[in-house]
Amino acid sequence: MKLEEIFSEIRNCRKCELWKYAKQAVVGEGPENSKVMVIGEAPGAEEDKTGRPFVGRAGKLLRNALSSNSLNEVYITNVVKHRPPNNRKPKKEEIKACSEFLLTEIQTVKPKIIIALGSTACNFLTGEKKIKIAIEKNYELMGAKVLVDYHPAAVLRNPKLYKTFEKKIKEAKANL
Ligand code: URA
Repeated sequence: MKLEEIFSEIRNCRKCELWKYAKQAVVGEGPENSKVMVIGEAPGAEEDKTGRPFVGRAGKLLRNALSSNSLNEVYITNVVKHRPPNNRKPKKEEIKACSEFLLTEIQTVKPKIIIALGSTACNFLTGEKKIKIAIEKNYELMGAKVLVDYHPAAVLRNPKLYKTFEKKIKEAKANL
């Protein structure tokens, strides 16, 4: 399936209620043949406004960390494609309803490395609920190595996490 076909299905998706509260769907961004895929939780206010993933404060931190480590060809997406109201965590059934899109994105892009940001992406991709445990481990999914990392919003709240956050980005670069 081509990414544009997946995006059009995402934009028309009514499998859960989130579309009712969102301004628009936020689909993935980046080259179709990216070796690295970064997966966050769900769009926030800025993403909902612009239709692009990771463009708010957390997104700027992420994008700066990627480019300053020369990770330029990266596909960036989220587990859930419509913004949950008031930035609440997506519910189990919303994640389930959206999951087929993310799996198809992985199948299409065929990344070598997946960076799972935060507990929602971590839990979805590895089955592990505790990020502190998952961050120490290596996982594999659909032929990709999965690296778990702190969410950049958590790094904004606690700047001490930046070192580990960037270490994982360096690890992704070193594994290409
Ligand atoms: N947080 C996420 O998890 N994803 C975004 O796209 C923006 C903020």
